[in-house]
Amino acid sequence: MSIRFDDKVAIVTGAGGGLGREYALELARRGAKVVVNDLGGDRSGQGASDAAQKVVAEIEAMGGEAIANGASVTEYDQMVEMVAQAKEKWGGVHVLINNAGVLRDKSFAKMEPADFDFVVKVHLIGSANATKACWDTFREQNYGRVLMTASSTGLFGNFGQANYGAAKLGLAGLTKTLYLEGAKNNIKVNTLAPTAGTRMTQDIFPEQLFDAFSPHKVVPAALFLVSEDAPTNQILGAGAGVFQASYVTLTQGVALKGDDLSPEGIAAHWAQITDRANEIVPESGAAQAMLIGKKLQEG
Ligand code: NAI
Repeated sequence: MSIRFDDKVAIVTGAGGGLGREYALELARRGAKVVVNDLGGDRSGQGASDAAQKVVAEIEAMGGEAIANGASVTEYDQMVEMVAQAKEKWGGVHVLINNAGVLRDKSFAKMEPADFDFVVKVHLIGSANATKACWDTFREQNYGRVLMTASSTGLFGNFGQANYGAAKLGLAGLTKTLYLEGAKNNIKVNTLAPTAGTRMTQDIFPEQLFDAFSPHKVVPAALFLVSEDAPTNQILGAGAGVFQASYVTLTQGVALKGDDLSPEGIAAHWAQITDRANEIVPESGAAQAMLIGKKLQEG
């Protein structure tokens, strides 16, 4: 069965280029009305341009419907206005892809606090702003699909990207609470960790890999994760046509008492504590607390 977005209104932040543009075009091809948000700045977040307007023109040229929005995700009030603009024109908002992002890479030793702050502000606070601006509408409609954009840096680390990695893992964390809070109103929240040749990766990726890692190969993952039958609370890696699920897991662990309830006891049981056999994926923080209780009963 084909996945369609007829009668759906989608907002894609940072959709003036790279991955966001590809998402916006494919959502429009599949029937969605699209808000193309982009400030149009450079890779570090400086400056502005009509990047969003150009993508709207592309969508209109293929017979789709879209509006451009040049607001910055860092400004909550502007996100509220963007949602109001979409609702006024099309009567609702159903899909939000939080994709806007910037890079200010440096080793942590050389990183200015202001560059840490700014990158966290765009990715993490920006995604929270856009999601919060949509949240009441999603609840009222009993329908919402939200995608956060993390990255392998957030999930696994990368030299020179402390600010970016902190923000990106924060987004996976935001997903994990929002999926719980949204569940009763049919709001599904997922995280995508893409790998693609864009301006963001142009000096990281060897030139010859750009084709293999073309951004359009990430699009199927993004669109599936915001579709009607999307799963929720998933972290999906996507790049070059390879798709992988990622999990935050817990080992079975060990309950210590008496003399063992000490740093020395931890050292003595380290192999058992970190034994990954039969790892668990708790559905929430509360579920982890329950597992602690169970472990104590067993012990
Ligand atoms: P890109 O630089 O082409 O796209 C990011 C877009 O966000 C740009 O068009 C930019 O103007 C826009 N933007 C920046 N600040 C904004 C703001 N304050 N408000 C609104 N728009 C803003 O890069 P790319 O690769 O397409 O990145 C898209 C997302 O995917 C980003 O969140 C990035 O961190 C993430 N990502 C990309 C990877 C890759 O391999 N390309 C790897 C992992 C994550």
